[in-house]
Amino acid sequence: MRAITYSEFGTPEVLTLSDLPEPRPGPDSVVVEVRAASINPVDWKARQGYLEGLIDTVFPAVPGWDVAGVVVKTGADAPEFDVGDEVYAYARKDVIGGGTLAERAAVPVRTLALKPTSLSFEEAAAVPLVALTALRSMRRSEVTEGDRVLVHNGAGGVGGFAIQLARLAGATVVATASEHNHDYLRSLGATPVEYGEGLTERLRSASPEGFDVVLDFAGSGSLAASESTMREGSRCISVVEGREARRLGGHVVWVRPNAPGLVELAELFDAGKLKVEVARVYPLEEAVEAYRQLEAGHVRGKVVITP
Ligand SMILES: NC(=O)c1ccc[n+]([C@@H]2O[C@H](COP(=O)([O-])OP(=O)(O)OC[C@H]3O[C@@H](n4cnc5c(N)ncnc54)[C@H](OP(=O)(O)O)[C@@H]3O)[C@@H](O)[C@H]2O)c1
Repeated sequence: MRAITYSEFGTPEVLTLSDLPEPRPGPDSVVVEVRAASINPVDWKARQGYLEGLIDTVFPAVPGWDVAGVVVKTGADAPEFDVGDEVYAYARKDVIGGGTLAERAAVPVRTLALKPTSLSFEEAAAVPLVALTALRSMRRSEVTEGDRVLVHNGAGGVGGFAIQLARLAGATVVATASEHNHDYLRSLGATPVEYGEGLTERLRSASPEGFDVVLDFAGSGSLAASESTMREGSRCISVVEGREARRLGGHVVWVRPNAPGLVELAELFDAGKLKVEVARVYPLEEAVEAYRQLEAGHVRGKVVITP
């Protein structure tokens, strides 16, 4: 089958289109025919070797942890799914490799749920990793009705879902992005604020009472810039600057594969309560261009790849 692989760490140029043997499902996995996969910053951090020491890479490595597709084979003891089921997953394994930028992928059932019926495969593939990160961030920071929530990086994949989930919980939301994304943030229900020089003052005027919860999906000193806007007893998390979050009494969040979380998200999509933003869809053979766009750091929503 066709798959994107890399056999050394490096820039997007180490990615090549390869011919690989068909994946075999382990006893508690299924093989999914990939209709769409989406890419995430963690893919390029792994490909650059930045996750060495944290998680092993098995070369030649197929990148990609997000997938939407159809079950074509089930493992020896995987009764949760049948051939023909339309599914989606944040299919992270214990090593980097065997990913979803391929025609087919073996996916553990613990990571898998039925795809929201209201979403296309391209849209569904854009959901798992980022929406589960947003969900876990909400839970870890206990966002609740009436909270004033600040979302750093509201226009990225994670932030778009964090805004929507916080609004569904009854919170008011201020989110950062550059000017060209402000109408987008408003459409999700957030008050937009531009990041960069002068951020602290702009946050103070957007929410003079301060914030009960600060969710950092940007890094680059965002938590430090909002420290003085945090009210007494406020909660914070960061997915990028864990040490900063802990200094402020908060938590680092590492997203986990979470099948029940995907079921919960599918219900919200199918009830019309959540939407997903797909910036661009690339064919598999243009994976290098897709990662170049992602790595430039200004994607609104998600970049999706179809085999
Ligand atoms: N720990 C975990 O489990 C976990 C899980 C998911 C993601 N992450 C990390 O979280 C970060 C965000 O992920 P993502 O997928 O949401 O990223 P993303 O989609 O690639 O984010 C792109 C967005 O970042 C915005 N941006 C760039 N610099 C910013 C800044 N200083 N302040 C506010 N917004 C800024 C850009 O908006 P403009 O175009 O308006 O500049 C763009 O829309 C990445 O570093 C990723 O690796 C960690």
